[in-house]
Amino acid sequence: MGSVLVTGGAGYIGSHTCVELLECGREVIVIDNFVNSSYESIKRVQDITGKKMKFFEGDMRDRDFLRSVFSENEVDSVIHFAGLKAVGESCEVPLEYYDNNLNSLIALCETMAGFNVKKLVFSSSATVYGDNQPPYNENMKPGLITNPYGRTKYMAEQILSDLSISDGEWSILILRYFNPIGAHESGKIGEDPKGIPNNLMPYILKVAIGELPELKVFGGDYKTPDGTCIRDYIHVVDLAKGHISALKKLDKFKGFDIYNLGTGKGCSVLELINKFEEVCKVNLNYSVGDRRDGDLPVCFADTSKAEKQLNWKAKYDIGRMCEDSWRWQISNPKGYKR
Ligand code: NAD
Ligand code: UD1
Repeated sequence: MGSVLVTGGAGYIGSHTCVELLECGREVIVIDNFVNSSYESIKRVQDITGKKMKFFEGDMRDRDFLRSVFSENEVDSVIHFAGLKAVGESCEVPLEYYDNNLNSLIALCETMAGFNVKKLVFSSSATVYGDNQPPYNENMKPGLITNPYGRTKYMAEQILSDLSISDGEWSILILRYFNPIGAHESGKIGEDPKGIPNNLMPYILKVAIGELPELKVFGGDYKTPDGTCIRDYIHVVDLAKGHISALKKLDKFKGFDIYNLGTGKGCSVLELINKFEEVCKVNLNYSVGDRRDGDLPVCFADTSKAEKQLNWKAKYDIGRMCEDSWRWQISNPKGYKR
């Protein structure tokens, strides 16, 4: 069997997926340009697993570079994580987001077709469900998407659907992630956001370790049991294992399909804070403030399709997600910079 090419493999979800791939005996090739990561995560993946990966530094939009990677290696299938993902930033520099996220995908698919590699797993997001009524299932029409980042994911899904219609030899699986948090149990790899975090768990971690003074809970007046927003947090290791299940499905499948990767369980902002304080034995300084523009009150997955067809189910609970996030943070107070 040839190698799995993991684009964006130095990033948060990519690095955890590389660990799972290596641990189940696959040969792995990583491409990354480090726009939001560093080489340290590659070293640590090899350290955790005791196995080597091939690594190529370059930009996914660079067709000559992609051709050289494909011609030097026997690639069997591709997991495409590489992309920009900050919602706020995507509103400030939309063209950078459309350019990076869509031109990367087009260059990748053209190169794959040129080398007759037609098995692809693509990272999408629950954001494409927009204002639908949860639990979200894969048959729902996309809802109102409020930002350019989310629209790049929706457009990418359309591009891949069109590609599979045009050529029946492709096997394409879209994975729509809910809210990945947590870290590998070794504490050696985790999420390492640049600057002040936008997302809840990375912010909690910075407050817990004393780098930021206070967490603001964005809104306490939603129509939810405790007034704060509800999300479907999923352990990043469960998410990574979902990619292994997707790859297995690619081997016996042609066409295009979509799967939610979540736990199917909602958790409010206050519930996550309380659980974090309980299992990590830290007091978090927080207060409830105004709502954040664009936030949905409730978002969680219907996971039955992935359970039945991918034979995959998330197993870690919120307590374990908090524990593993905290271990990563205290073992690496400055992230990969040390
Ligand atoms: P990340 O930023 O940690 O990882 C993405 C990686 O891609 C980074 O290492 C970055 O350097 C690399 N990259 C970006 N553009 C590139 C390019 N043009 N060429 C080469 N490398 C490039 O993000 P992540 O959280 O690991 O997310 C992975 C994927 O999953 C992204 O596509 C993201 O949009 C999607 N996703 C993430 C979440 C989440 O909450 N983390 C939720 C839904 C979907
Ligand atoms: C956000 C993005 C979404 C993206 C996802 C994963 C928005 C509107 N949505 O989702 O497109 O796929 O990240 O990267 O940005 N919260 C606080 N205080 C904070 C930070 C967050 O109370 O300092 C709350 C938010 O209001 C939300 C919850 O925590 O209710 C989770 O927030 P976050 O981690 O940013 O994820 P999403 O908003 O679900």
